[in-house]
Amino acid sequence: MASVDVGIGLLGYGTVGSSVNRMLVESADEIERATGHRLRVVRALVRDPAKERPFPAGDGVLTTDFETFRDDPEVQIVAEVMGGLSPAGDYVRALLGAGKPVVSANKQLIARDGAELFAAASAAGVQLRFEASVCAAIPVVKVLRESLVVSNVHRVLGIVNGTTNFMLSSMERGGSYADALAEAQALGYAEADPTDDVSGADAAAKMAILATVAFGSRVRFEDVECRGIEELEPVHVNAAAQLGMVIKLVGIATLLDGAVDVRVQPALVERSHPLAAVDGAFNAVMLQGDAIREITLEGPGAGGVETASAVVADLVSVVGTAGTGFLQNDACWRELARLPSSEWRSPFYVHLEVSDRPGVLAHAASRLAAHDVSIAQLVQRLEDGAAAIELVLHRAPFGEVSAALREIAAFPEVLRPPFVLPVIAERGL
Ligand code: NAP
Ligand code: HSE
Repeated sequence: MASVDVGIGLLGYGTVGSSVNRMLVESADEIERATGHRLRVVRALVRDPAKERPFPAGDGVLTTDFETFRDDPEVQIVAEVMGGLSPAGDYVRALLGAGKPVVSANKQLIARDGAELFAAASAAGVQLRFEASVCAAIPVVKVLRESLVVSNVHRVLGIVNGTTNFMLSSMERGGSYADALAEAQALGYAEADPTDDVSGADAAAKMAILATVAFGSRVRFEDVECRGIEELEPVHVNAAAQLGMVIKLVGIATLLDGAVDVRVQPALVERSHPLAAVDGAFNAVMLQGDAIREITLEGPGAGGVETASAVVADLVSVVGTAGTGFLQNDACWRELARLPSSEWRSPFYVHLEVSDRPGVLAHAASRLAAHDVSIAQLVQRLEDGAAAIELVLHRAPFGEVSAALREIAAFPEVLRPPFVLPVIAERGL
């Protein structure tokens, strides 16, 4: 970087963008100590410059005209903190094409259009960084790409959505789904449309990015099997407690025999497991690998200042590594196959509601046995002539468990379709 004052352009000046500016102003000395440069916001693109801002931009910094922003020679590095696929994606492409390095906090954009954007960055010979797109303040992308570069990470477990973790923590304490969602929205954890949080789409985008970085092979948003928390009922939360577990929305990325499986779904987590203790809106990512055995990173996964901390770290990395060829752009270096969903293995929890008649339990057990699936725990509760059966199954292929449950569901005494979730108990230690 030739100039001492590095001009920063912000695509967006909302919760994260204004926090980035505040941090660059308030931490200018620390940044100069680290990089030898002072980073200053010279332009910020917004929709409404008249809007009141928590940390106002300098005079003449806000603009609504993208061409003015793109062509401003003072804008040397861009932070995309606008969100959404369009127009943010078109703007990032145009800026990379104009030779400007970009750092982005936009998980949906990176998870969906990453391949094309990284190719555009490489073609232009500039960097595209994305630490802030996953888990805000937790520096997991940097840890995976730099600290664990030779560690053969083969499993990533993540609680990567604060809203749903907050809701499930609240439901565990007896709160209702609706009250928990309303509180998460009031506290500002939820996305503008909370559907992305509760459906698992927000977590799926983050897991696609994490799996891509961890395994070095592209995992797109569409490749992630995704189930949200909408179908959870108090009966499942209570059953988990009875079994000594808690329910969490967990991202699970597995590299097995050269094939990749990435999924986001509610899971029962054993109380002694580190992920069970992740409370409220916090995020945590557990990395398991050959050399490291197991590392868990935990911290705030949302918020203006928390996300800005990752954006600023990426800006500093761009300044520090420009022209060196060090870990720039795409994390992909190979193409791995997808593991068929039926071959993905885990212990499972199953909730059955059946008529209280002779032979029903024996039938269920025989169908599981026919598929070589073994029962580890069983709890039964009777109520009004019906029985609720909670089963924990030993580790088995998902395809075999699903086939057994289809056969169990066909039995006339089974009152509702069986409900199945994975169980997380194993450690990488
Ligand atoms: P935000 O408060 O809604 O800010 C978005 C900014 O972009 C606003 O300044 C808005 O302008 C501007 N903008 C949006 N569409 C625009 C358009 N078409 N043209 C020009 N400007 C436009 O969003 P945020 O919470 O800061 O989030 C920004 C990004 O960070 C998103 O990708 C989000 O997923 C990611 N992120 C956020 C958090 C968090 O906790 N907030 C955490 C992790 C990641 P106006 O101000 O004029 O409306
Ligand atoms: N809505 C997200 C969450 C925060 O609840 O984790 C931004 O990623």
